[in-house]
Amino acid sequence: MSEERFEELRRLREASLMGGGPKAIEKQHQKGKLTARERIDLLVDAGSFTEIDPFVTHRCKDFGMDQKRIPGDGVVTGHGLVDGRPIMLFSQDFTVFGGSLSGAYARKICKVMDMALKLGVPVVGLNDSGGARIQEGVESLGGYAEIFLRNTLASGVVPQISAVLGPCAGGAVYSPAITDFIAMVQGTSYMFVTGPNVVKTVTHEEVSFEELGGAEVHAARSGVAHFTSPDDASCLALVRTLLGYLPPNNREDPPRLEPQDDPDRVDPDLDGIIPADPDKPYDIKDVVTRVVDRDSFFEVMEAYAPNLVVGFARLDGNPVGVVANQPAHLAGVLDINASVKGARFVRFCDCFNIPLVTFEDVPGKKPGAKLLYAYCEATVPKLTVITRKAYGGAYDVMSSKHIRGDFNFAWPTAEIAVMGPAGAVQIIFKKEIKTPEDEARHAEEYRKKFANPFVAAELGYLDDIFEPRFTRPRLISALSLLRTKVDKNPPKKHGNLPL
Ligand code: HXC
Repeated sequence: MSEERFEELRRLREASLMGGGPKAIEKQHQKGKLTARERIDLLVDAGSFTEIDPFVTHRCKDFGMDQKRIPGDGVVTGHGLVDGRPIMLFSQDFTVFGGSLSGAYARKICKVMDMALKLGVPVVGLNDSGGARIQEGVESLGGYAEIFLRNTLASGVVPQISAVLGPCAGGAVYSPAITDFIAMVQGTSYMFVTGPNVVKTVTHEEVSFEELGGAEVHAARSGVAHFTSPDDASCLALVRTLLGYLPPNNREDPPRLEPQDDPDRVDPDLDGIIPADPDKPYDIKDVVTRVVDRDSFFEVMEAYAPNLVVGFARLDGNPVGVVANQPAHLAGVLDINASVKGARFVRFCDCFNIPLVTFEDVPGKKPGAKLLYAYCEATVPKLTVITRKAYGGAYDVMSSKHIRGDFNFAWPTAEIAVMGPAGAVQIIFKKEIKTPEDEARHAEEYRKKFANPFVAAELGYLDDIFEPRFTRPRLISALSLLRTKVDKNPPKKHGNLPL
């Protein structure tokens, strides 16, 4: 008897491990994709994966589905370690019914999400799914809704990361879209409400997978994807790197790494980085990478709204969120897309106790209230360095003293005023200006008076002005002091971010 049971267990386990079977696995490989289990092996530390629910099957009897039951039902769930730190995970198996979601499959995902919330550990979802399992109908829709609810309740409590590693349709994209970060693979991963075949049937439109929801479209145009990678392996390596900057939950601080860089390192080259001509661009990433720990800058949403740079980095081993205007793109102006991008990043950092370091060089602001709201609301340590321009509303928005900036610094090259000298003199000296010489004289007068950091420093709106070379040690010392910062917002159910 017991021998039979052992045999049955081996048979079931083998069936569960094989998913859709050798042919389907070969097809998956031919498309340049890894299987659900191969992906898990690359995501977690070697040998650390423990599976949950390998024997779950669906209950559907329609369309001959009762004859097609595969233990595990198309999603591998469980837990593992990333650099020794636990995560809960699920990995969708496209070889089983196209990775489509049944009620039973949804319950498996909900189980790991519930556990993640209880334990306070991140959830990583590896997505490769055709969406709701069409043969199942409403049970599958209900299953999705239960996942969406958990995504929402877990938001801001544990980090949620989605890798999109295949053609994801319908519910399979709604859920990643509510999570904190989405990483896609170029050429094999897609996110759309439904696939090109259904689009053609319904609307008679021919559209390619790539145009409908490829990695480039979502990284550069919709802003849905935060990262793109050339293949599954590099995408999973990227998810590991990302997790390295994040705390396991909102009650803990992000993990400190033993620093590989000198906290007192001064960088004399920074003193010459701002061009003599205030209208000339420079690359703010050169500033960021020189200030933070060597090789620690990890950019987020690189292809979307490049006029604002956001990403994680470390200062003396401690993770920080960097937000920086990029004068090398659209002069660094804050437009709507930049506001959305920045707001989402600032709010993520605020949820997870990651201090914000802002580099400001912005000639102006177009409408877009979200970034302002996000900075106002944030209670994590907030440091600001004005490298050059801080004009108009953008001065207020970019983590200014007035909206609870903890340390606001400027380089001597800073210009802080309502608007640039050229525009300003046209308004306030309209009647006096008769010749170009008059205009130049008034502009110079205005520049002397306002296009500098000294007025703001006199008012205490800046805590200090220092030479650019000292930026790294000054930020590290400020951050170290701010480790014990406590700040609060008034009690409320939740705010009403201007969406
Ligand atoms: C059941 C599915 C399926 C699904 C794919 N398959 N999607 N089975 N339910 N939703 C099966 C296929 O029948 C096929 O089975 C296998 O998976 C591989 O699919 P292919 O079409 O051969 O693969 P490919 O050409 O790569 O195209 C992948 C795809 C396409 C783009 C995902 O399959 C597709 O468009 N599927 C339908 C997408 C969709 O509309 N889903 C429902 C969305 S509604 P065999 O046996 O032939 O290998 C939804 C509701 C959510 O999700 C509501 C939330 C609010």
